[in-house]
Amino acid sequence: MKALRDIALKVPSIRALYEHKQQLETELIDLQIAQAAKLADIQALRETESRSYKEMQDSLADSHAQIRELEAQMKHVYEGHNGLAETINFLQHRNQDLIDLHDVVVEEKWAGQKGTWLCLAPFTDIEILNNGDVYTCCSAFVKHNHCIGNVYEQTLAEIWNSDKAKKLRYSVSMGNFEYCNRFCMHLKNLDKRHDSLFIRRDPDHYSFESWQDCTLDYWPKKISLSCDHTCNLTCASCRKEVRKNEQSDEEIYNMLMRSIYPYLDDCRLLTALGSGEFFASRTMRRFFEQLSPERFPHLKVGIVTNAQLITPERLEALNNLSTMWGSFYVSIDAAEKETYEKLRTGAKWEKLLESMKILSAMKMRDEIDLLQMNFVVQADNYRQMPDFVELARSWKADCVEFQRILNFGGTYDAEQFKTVDVLNPSHPDYAEVKSIISTIKEKCDDILIIENLIQGE
Ligand SMILES: C[S@@+](CC[C@H](N)C(=O)[O-])C[C@H]1O[C@@H](n2cnc3c(N)ncnc32)[C@H](O)[C@@H]1O
Ligand code: SF4
Ligand code: SF4
Repeated sequence: MKALRDIALKVPSIRALYEHKQQLETELIDLQIAQAAKLADIQALRETESRSYKEMQDSLADSHAQIRELEAQMKHVYEGHNGLAETINFLQHRNQDLIDLHDVVVEEKWAGQKGTWLCLAPFTDIEILNNGDVYTCCSAFVKHNHCIGNVYEQTLAEIWNSDKAKKLRYSVSMGNFEYCNRFCMHLKNLDKRHDSLFIRRDPDHYSFESWQDCTLDYWPKKISLSCDHTCNLTCASCRKEVRKNEQSDEEIYNMLMRSIYPYLDDCRLLTALGSGEFFASRTMRRFFEQLSPERFPHLKVGIVTNAQLITPERLEALNNLSTMWGSFYVSIDAAEKETYEKLRTGAKWEKLLESMKILSAMKMRDEIDLLQMNFVVQADNYRQMPDFVELARSWKADCVEFQRILNFGGTYDAEQFKTVDVLNPSHPDYAEVKSIISTIKEKCDDILIIENLIQGE
């Protein structure tokens, strides 16, 4: 009985236990379901995280590429900025020249005699620059943008009688020189130059009703080539580093054969090279080798040179020109070794002396019409000007040309240029250099001195 009672007592608790177990199993299943859901969430989160991580990595790589591209662009802009700064510097100097033009040239130089003189340059001369632009005289002397055409784009016939050429001719024929820069050597040395471009105005010659009448029926009589930068030196006044041409040697040579050679019949003087060194340029020498006195009986050649590469062999290689040497213009800028080698970077004084011996002998044998020594006046050399004239005398030179320094290829910044340009009236040495020039001019009656140094005189 007792056992039965016990079982009876236990039965509800067994049920309860059973029910409890059931409940626990249900809860377990719920928990398992919840766990599986959590695991799915975790998996989904992992996938999202890995996708985001990859996207972030891709976007980081893109950013790096963009940064590199921006850096390259920045470098490009920066280089462009430097180039522009140089050009602006250069143009500012040119601009100042033009601003001073009317006061100095037209008002002072021509006071009371306006219209008395006429410049023949636009009727006789052309100069061809490196980019093919053509000017009627040295581009540094005429207003910067007044080129009359371009040999890489037009024929010389079109350029020679272009509207711009005719307008310039008309302007100088009227004696108002509105296109001319006060640094013009010819304007400055009016009736003193051996090769003066100026003539007195004569109503029967070079008188025109309008600019449209200024067409010419002959080709240029003087052609100056400044269309090749090739040079063996890097003079401080001229360039900071070796300069390359925009065109290939072949393109320059073809241009010369197309645009110059056929127009040489009226030419009396063909000069090279205003922009580089004739003896360093294979292209120039190749072109000059095509000339001969038989083909061009009236033609003479002029050579502007640093003289460092002149040797008997190189002259012999050009023996087709032996009766055609017109002028040698030798640029030296010093009267002694140290200054010479400082200003004419890469040159040797001893080599210059050897070359001058050759040219001097040619001059004495009358194989050269004119021997001229060039000297760009600057703070480092102006005290050597009197000795330079003595040197020129000893070499039997006909002429010394003292040139005012220009900021040619933007080689100086504005402040540097002020210290170099001793002919600027605000330079502390201006009075001294002015007095040196006056003394030189007083003493020289056996050698021609030409200069464009002191303005307004
Ligand atoms: C550019 S050079 C070319 C010819 C040749 N390589 C030579 O040195 O004679 C032509 C002339 O320009 C002159 N020149 C150089 N730098 C100058 C400057 N900054 N201002 C004025 N003339 C300069 C030279 O002395 C030379 O007489
Ligand atoms: S005056 Fe001088 S700048 Fe003017 S056209 Fe004559 S040479 Fe050229
Ligand atoms: S001045 Fe003449 S020699 Fe000197 S770097 Fe210029 S072109 Fe060459």
